[in-house]
Amino acid sequence: MKKIAILASGTGSNAENIYKFFTNGNRVKVELVIYDRRNAPVATRMRELGADTLYLPAEVWTERPEEIVELLRQREIDLVVLAGFLRILPPAITSAFDRRILNVHPSLLPAYGGPGMYGSKVHKAVIEEGESKTGATVHYVNDTIDGGEILMQQEVEITPEDTPQSVEEKVHRAEFSIYPKAIMEALAKLSGPEQATPAQQSENTGDMIVETADPGQEWAEVLGVKYDASKLPPAYPGAVPPPVTPQNTATAVQNPAPAFQSPQQAFNNPPEGKMPPSYLIWSVLSTVLCCLPAGIVAIIFSSQVSSKFYSGDIDGANRASERAQIWIIVSFVIGVLANTLYLPIALLF
Ligand code: GRF
Repeated sequence: MKKIAILASGTGSNAENIYKFFTNGNRVKVELVIYDRRNAPVATRMRELGADTLYLPAEVWTERPEEIVELLRQREIDLVVLAGFLRILPPAITSAFDRRILNVHPSLLPAYGGPGMYGSKVHKAVIEEGESKTGATVHYVNDTIDGGEILMQQEVEITPEDTPQSVEEKVHRAEFSIYPKAIMEALAKLSGPEQATPAQQSENTGDMIVETADPGQEWAEVLGVKYDASKLPPAYPGAVPPPVTPQNTATAVQNPAPAFQSPQQAFNNPPEGKMPPSYLIWSVLSTVLCCLPAGIVAIIFSSQVSSKFYSGDIDGANRASERAQIWIIVSFVIGVLANTLYLPIALLF
């Protein structure tokens, strides 16, 4: 039994698709789903399916990545599968799992890849450039953002009516189609030719998998999972599945970006969405005018907002912002109470 770990940060439709594809198979198991955003919808989604989930906050990835390597080794993970995972993996993990980490990217890499190119930004850029096709890419992960060797791609046509949202939808379907197959291919490569023999079929339903011209069938047989194209929803009409040959496993153009982003780079490539308010000015005012200890606590939380946001910990930034707000209110309330009580008490004595 080969074991995979899925790493995700967002909605998790790829994670669900992969989980359903391999569930009930007898050769591949989704051993663990790890997520790095406390409220990531993927966590509930995968728990409801019965997957084992684990939340690892930002500080574990940035400060103690060797613990993650140890965890993956203890759980005997053969392949790490990134499915909408928004964090850049530290070199400690990429080097420990060399050629054993896959990622899916929503464009035809090397086009529209690299730092800052993720999610809807990719689809907006593709439309703005007037491209007539885009697609999905599954590639190995190394220390170059979106620069690892390409394992599988699927093209998607773009029509004049398309919007970033409709392109995203089409690309998602292409991802559902190729990612499970790419996982099987990567696992088969790890196993070596001696183990690549036809195996017993499983009861896999694979109900989100999109039908394509079928190189996946071969790998399904190799790895012992059922790949029943007749039960699958129709493929997006513009999807053009590439043949799975050594020729289409081209090496991507090497992107010179470093694995870790410096503070300046992080600032230039901020996470998607708006940074929550830091309330720093209000914290300082509450410290000076109202209650010193409560104000200082508010300043500490205020100063955490931007650092957490730019390190990718959006949940942490939101929490710090909420806490800063609470402590500003506490500071003002104590300040008002102290000042209003002072006069009657001073008059009494
Ligand atoms: C996908 O489009 C994938 O290409 C990108 O992130 C998105 C994740 O979507 N890396 P989901 O969370 O699997 O729905």
